[in-house]
Amino acid sequence: MNNQVCRISGQSLTKSVDFGRQPLGNGFLLPQDYATEYFFPMVVGFSETSMMLQLIEQPAPEKMFHEHYAFYSSTSSYMAKHFAEFAQSVMGSGYLARIDPFVVELGCNDGIMLKNFFQAGIRHLGIEPSRNVAAVANTHGVRTLSEFFDEAVARNVVSQDGQADAFLAANVMCHIPDIQSVVKGIQALLKPTGVAVFEDPYLGDIIEKTSYDQIYDEHVFLFSAHSIKYLFGLHGMELIDVQAQKTHGGSMRYVLAHAGAYPVKKSVTELLAKEQALGLHLLSTFDKFRKNVERSRTDLLALLRGLKAQGKRIAGYGATSKSTTILNYCGIGPDLIDYICDTTPIKQGKFTPGMHIPVVPYETFTANPPDYAFLFAWNHAEEIMAKEKDFMAAGGKWIVHVPEVKVF
Ligand code: SAH
Ligand code: TMP
Repeated sequence: MNNQVCRISGQSLTKSVDFGRQPLGNGFLLPQDYATEYFFPMVVGFSETSMMLQLIEQPAPEKMFHEHYAFYSSTSSYMAKHFAEFAQSVMGSGYLARIDPFVVELGCNDGIMLKNFFQAGIRHLGIEPSRNVAAVANTHGVRTLSEFFDEAVARNVVSQDGQADAFLAANVMCHIPDIQSVVKGIQALLKPTGVAVFEDPYLGDIIEKTSYDQIYDEHVFLFSAHSIKYLFGLHGMELIDVQAQKTHGGSMRYVLAHAGAYPVKKSVTELLAKEQALGLHLLSTFDKFRKNVERSRTDLLALLRGLKAQGKRIAGYGATSKSTTILNYCGIGPDLIDYICDTTPIKQGKFTPGMHIPVVPYETFTANPPDYAFLFAWNHAEEIMAKEKDFMAAGGKWIVHVPEVKVF
């Protein structure tokens, strides 16, 4: 969909960064499919009215989310723990009715969060259009509906199951271009006392760390408290709490309720003030961001080419969807990076979108370690460092590009 105008305010968008021609972030493929590989022009724009940074053009949802979706949430044990804690915090929040509470999760993937509600005997529904991952959720006892959530789906859920006490989502609200329909759906779905609790990569972290790899086809929006408050305010809902999260390199959890249902916590006013200081509401901030992104690309290419000239072997660690943006924006191919290892079976044996670097099983990394490993899964650094003591003990070094390009 090509939108020169803001999906929230209808006002025109001002271009920030042009990432050039990009493939699908999760579009790992085989050589016989190179000829028909899909690309789109990836440009982010900003609206000063809605204060929302967004992709000007995004591939159709059905191209990205389907029965061969390559991202399985439970590949990270750290994330499994994170979502168990998320579920516990909702169960202990006092927002759920004492009798027969009902919880809906958007984009429940393989059931990483909802299985905790299933195990606690809480009535739940996961809405998950990618059938392969939803099928895994089912094996964990999670009830799913394979649909793209919108206002119509929300109304159907209400007529079948009644209104919900809590609407949950993680790393999916920012994926949905028709976000107005989603918010209308949430409004219809929630009981008068119900809450929506969702988290996504946080714009403040992206700006502070120049983590531009959070921008890829699936992430049509990069949220801040300012933009979320504006968006939900259009539909009679209010931001009542925010909680910063370490996940995905810096995320924000937003809690929303029907306007006036609950007092607004101090955390909201504090975050709004912090965002004002950072300039997340200003166009000029995104001009500075563009310059930082360009500098990051120059530094990264200089480092990789320099190492290669010294005869060093470089591999990638984690064939993340984020890495697709870095590789294609910087033009990094198999000439610079020999392979990328990943623990996800569906990615192994395939090649990275656009730049066609081989994706290999994790065992290749341990059997044939490189001199330098580019940590594409930098958001899982803690978990990976704990696992890779041998690589480092043998003199292996890491490359990261956030908050600046460096070797450690
Ligand atoms: N919540 C999980 C999965 C995030 S990936 C986690 O944080 O790990 C995003 C998921 O949202 C995918 O599984 C995708 O299929 C799903 N999704 C995308 N668009 C959706 C929509 N309109 N409604 C519901 N789910 C959607
Ligand atoms: P994500 O950044 O979108 O969560 O994707 C992480 C990718 O990295 C996913 O494909 C799984 C892979 N991965 C590994 O290969 N090894 C690991 O130890 C971890 C945590 C992730």
